[in-house]
Amino acid sequence: MTDQFSCPVQTQADPVSLVVFGATGDLAMRKIYPALASLCRNQLLSHDTRILAVGRTEMDTEQYRNLLGDRLAGAVPSSCLADLAPRVSYLRMDPEDPASARFLALALNELDGGAKDRLFYLAVPPSAYIPLATAIGEAGLARQDEDRRVRIVVEKPFGRDLPTARELDDVLHRYFRESQIFRIDHYMAKETVQNVLLLRFANALFEPVWNRRYIDHIRITAAEDLGIGHRAGFYDQAGVLRDMFQNHMMMLLALCAMEPPSLFDAELVRDERSKVFRSLRPLDLERLDEQLILGQYGPGMVDGKTVPGYLQEPGVRPDSTTPTFAWMKVYLDNWRWQGVPFHLCSGKRLAAKHTEISVQFKSVPVSMFRKTHGGAIPPNRLVIGIHPHEVVRLEVQTKGQGSRLCLQGQSMEFSYGAASDLGRLDDYAKVLLDCITGDQTLFWRQDAVELCWGFLTPVLDRCDCADDALPLHTYVAGGPGPREADRATP
Ligand code: BG6
Repeated sequence: MTDQFSCPVQTQADPVSLVVFGATGDLAMRKIYPALASLCRNQLLSHDTRILAVGRTEMDTEQYRNLLGDRLAGAVPSSCLADLAPRVSYLRMDPEDPASARFLALALNELDGGAKDRLFYLAVPPSAYIPLATAIGEAGLARQDEDRRVRIVVEKPFGRDLPTARELDDVLHRYFRESQIFRIDHYMAKETVQNVLLLRFANALFEPVWNRRYIDHIRITAAEDLGIGHRAGFYDQAGVLRDMFQNHMMMLLALCAMEPPSLFDAELVRDERSKVFRSLRPLDLERLDEQLILGQYGPGMVDGKTVPGYLQEPGVRPDSTTPTFAWMKVYLDNWRWQGVPFHLCSGKRLAAKHTEISVQFKSVPVSMFRKTHGGAIPPNRLVIGIHPHEVVRLEVQTKGQGSRLCLQGQSMEFSYGAASDLGRLDDYAKVLLDCITGDQTLFWRQDAVELCWGFLTPVLDRCDCADDALPLHTYVAGGPGPREADRATP
């Protein structure tokens, strides 16, 4: 059965003036422009949308457009590039210079005549968020009125712990309302991640068994084969808990665990996610090693090539104790999930890139096949594959063919990618479109950010404390990760 309900056709977004800070940086070149190109290709970007690229490098618009041509060649179809490039202007700006915001305001007025919605995208290192938000706010550019909406887009990390997250938020809220602030988590825009809510709440089948009575445990895995690449400056200060757990892993947890909102509405969905974070049981710092295992990759082989260990990566401190792997066992203190462990695991330089949610149901209470079959019956499992296999797979027991009664595990599988590629947007194109249209469903709200930092900060403080830190297990790059985590996972 492949019934297709009529899907509302996404119409072209209203024109917007998009200001990209950090315009020569990696994020802009690798994610934002390809996302814009994808929106162009899908005819979702208004022809009147204009882009103001802002950077510290001295150059003019012509030079910037040439740079775009060089950096995007191959990554973006040339027809999309030809469509985008003429809409881009470049402005050199130093956010620390108080005069600079005035030039920004002038450049924006020149670009849109003051007539369009504005979107400020902070594609800059986190240390520049506060100066830039302040510069925008002080120049009066955060103000919106009936004719013009103004939004600001912030990439994670939103601070590095609870106090710094609040500090950033104080500055953002000094100039912007919560409804204007879009805190991106690109994981939420993945089709298969969005599908979790539909699977759970658009089918009557799963919800009745989606609780502590029937579910034994849930595993959420985000394994990567890549190392830290050129991001040592950021990563060595962050580590896996700040880089992956504070955001993507927590969001996946919330999608698995949340209650159904009464309506698919941004605020109602975000309310339910926050309730999950509010139920997080604090990790027991006295027995932290039972709930948290940290690792760091050593040298090894990936795809047949020798790769350096974390400590040998360029830019990493030679005595760094930053974890690149974490396994964490989390409990939610609420009616639905009491006693059900959620195993969260993420690491770099593991055997392969592999992201999935695995819901393990309880075993049947008693096996009526025990005389013939003997052994225990493997429990059902529902796997939601996010990468590379975009699948929903239900593992069930069936009768193996033949005259004797024997059990055979089988999978009922729906392959998401195979369904259709039509109208599919990549993660960043989807979040960018939502920023333009003003849909905050997939974005972090500040209360959720603070709840998650509130949960993680005591753990991070303990891990960051040299005298009292947890053991850091070295694992071989390209392997399965620390043995200790393997042993702890059911
Ligand atoms: C980013 C992290 O947010 O997500 C990276 O900063 C990580 O360290 C990346 O590699 C993973 O995203 P994806 O979409 O490739 O699974």
